[in-house]
Amino acid sequence: MKLKDKVAIVTGGSRGIGKAIVYALAAEGAKVVFTYQSSEESSKKIEEELSSKGLTALSIKADASLMSEAEKTINFVLEKFGTLDILVNNAGITKDNLLIRMTEEDFDKVISANLKSVFNYTKAALKPMISKKYGKIINISSVVALNGNAGQSNYVAAKSGVIGFSKSIAKEVASRNISVNVIAPGFIATDMTDKLNEKQKEAIVNLIPMKKIAEPEVIATTVTFLSSSDSDYITGQVIAVDGGMTM
Ligand SMILES: NC(=O)c1ccc[n+]([C@@H]2O[C@H](COP(=O)([O-])OP(=O)(O)OC[C@H]3O[C@@H](n4cnc5c(N)ncnc54)[C@H](OP(=O)(O)O)[C@@H]3O)[C@@H](O)[C@H]2O)c1
Repeated sequence: MKLKDKVAIVTGGSRGIGKAIVYALAAEGAKVVFTYQSSEESSKKIEEELSSKGLTALSIKADASLMSEAEKTINFVLEKFGTLDILVNNAGITKDNLLIRMTEEDFDKVISANLKSVFNYTKAALKPMISKKYGKIINISSVVALNGNAGQSNYVAAKSGVIGFSKSIAKEVASRNISVNVIAPGFIATDMTDKLNEKQKEAIVNLIPMKKIAEPEVIATTVTFLSSSDSDYITGQVIAVDGGMTM
């Protein structure tokens, strides 16, 4: 087990990519606390399933957009397990529209859920990580942050912000033995992408050199790698897991 006795937080672990990350980290022996915004039933089910396998995952309802809720999560983890080793900033939403039709509210919501959330959790997590002189922070961006995407200017602004933010913090904390890396997923089968119709999905698959949509586990295995000592000399990097979309 690569993460035995490590303590991890995963934001947005109730569904999709976050859920796969929770399973992968727990399977490697980490004690995982994951957050959700509204999916309480699915979160409790994840807790039960993992507990029945002798693994540890606890859920907490916490809006990642709010600093007070991020602090609540970090305090919960520290009270429960006394330490924090791994932070995965995964929570995210989309509210797509062409700029001409995009409301200010939808711009702000997407920036808050995808970018401000990363500021909130990273700032709150750094205190215990700096005193421990250990930490692995993994932020989930997107392939669209590297290429741009019509109809997603709010989301792309947030996800590009995550990259710049991560590189800056990586430089701030590298000497404290804390790494900060980014994963830029391509097209992954989750509720987020299920909103697209078949014609849109077909058009996207045509843009992927590997010609397939991936399952959330491809991101989870990369998170496991970046959470483990296998990646100890890697920081400030953006790893695209996208079937070749950005080469
Ligand atoms: N799917 C893709 O193709 C793809 C590609 C590139 C990047 N990504 C990124 O990967 C991450 C996960 O995406 P996904 O496809 O797994 O999305 P998803 O299936 O829609 O799941 C989103 C997760 O985030 C949680 N969440 C959303 N807003 C939150 C908030 N304010 N506070 C706390 N939790 C919140 C949701 O909780 P509830 O269940 O309670 O709503 C859920 O657990 C996101 O950052 C997304 O932008 C996805």
